[in-house]
Amino acid sequence: MSEREELGNGDLLQHRCRRFIKEATLKRLDCIVGTRPNFVKIAPIIRALLRREGFAVRLVHTGQHYDVALNAVFFDELGIPDPDVNLEVGSGTHTEQTARIMLALESVLTNDRPDMLIVVGDVNSTLAATLVASKMLIPVAHVEAGLRSNDRAMPEEVNRIVTDSLCDLLLTTERSASDNLLREGARPERIGFVGNVMIDTLHACLERAVPAGRTFDEIGAGVVASRAEKSGYGFVTLHRPSNVDDEAQLRGLIEALCEITHAIPLLFAVHPRTRAKMEAAGLGRLFEDGRLLATPPLSYLRSLGLMREARLVITDSGGIQEETTALGVPCLTVRDNTERPITIAEGTNTLVGTSPAALKEAAADVLVNGGKCGRVPELWDGNAAERIVDHVRTFLAFR
Ligand code: UD1
Repeated sequence: MSEREELGNGDLLQHRCRRFIKEATLKRLDCIVGTRPNFVKIAPIIRALLRREGFAVRLVHTGQHYDVALNAVFFDELGIPDPDVNLEVGSGTHTEQTARIMLALESVLTNDRPDMLIVVGDVNSTLAATLVASKMLIPVAHVEAGLRSNDRAMPEEVNRIVTDSLCDLLLTTERSASDNLLREGARPERIGFVGNVMIDTLHACLERAVPAGRTFDEIGAGVVASRAEKSGYGFVTLHRPSNVDDEAQLRGLIEALCEITHAIPLLFAVHPRTRAKMEAAGLGRLFEDGRLLATPPLSYLRSLGLMREARLVITDSGGIQEETTALGVPCLTVRDNTERPITIAEGTNTLVGTSPAALKEAAADVLVNGGKCGRVPELWDGNAAERIVDHVRTFLAFR
């Protein structure tokens, strides 16, 4: 039925006026995502925005991650609406990827200018979107601001520093991140300590997490599954360029994992970048004896189920350091530094460095002594997205 038929002529003008006023008063927010961890962070923010009156949300996907396993499956499981815009930039060098996102996003923002952008995390999509919006004088809110590894060899650290220096609203997951921002000269009124939105998603999804046994069955890991029932298992992810791009380093770590499997079976969810490097180095055969079990990247609900039931997690991911802390599962982080120090100070995370010998030693220690106990950090309570929306609303109201 048309609007005219539905309302009758007399009401139509009044209705149109009301709708115009309502739409004109809506604050238009663009949420930018590009990679797997971005999807996990944006899901509760979109839900919280749509629960409140007064916001119109447009979801812009840069296309940085495009494989089903890194992308579509996350949208399905996390209940994220289909992107309104997909820039489809794909892979490339950092400069190529960043430049392609900037060019494509500039024309989207020029055609239809939002009141504010929300960017999350520290990936190239985060940086590129922030640069474009800042040049166009569109305010930007950064969720997960202020984290610092103090290691500029890490591409994400460069992304974090530049993003935070440009953003108007800096929303932090831990107090040390707010302190970093203050030290760098950010004005206190730009900073909001809101807690960890990744943990909002974890809380929302825990009941639906796929039991580990089912994942083992479905990936055909019968032998490992029966051993895992007796001894438990470890869950592994590695994808940082510093660990996987150098052949000798990658070989050393994979050989260390193989040795750890003498004590406990390991399930390794292999990122496409790691897979490509392993194949190029002829390391794929190390998966063939069936003790170190490889799978393609897993969906969020499968990873969550596997982390929750694991005896230990070995990773170089940022998000997994936080998720294991929230779950109380011992985590060995194969890096020399972390931008998430609260997972060490209060959580279950241990930095083991990048040497294969140190990794083996740390894993043996967890298996003998049970690993680190921790507590859940302040404001990692499942309500970070609501606090983010409060800050965004206040910021826009006072502009
Ligand atoms: C990116 C982020 C990293 C984040 C990770 C999560 C940056 C600088 N890095 O790393 O911080 O922890 O996402 O996964 O933004 N590839 C595919 N399919 C895809 C996407 C990538 O096969 O859908 C392969 C391509 O060979 C590509 C490589 O993975 O060249 C790296 O992808 P890229 O998006 O550049 O970085 P990630 O390593 O995924």
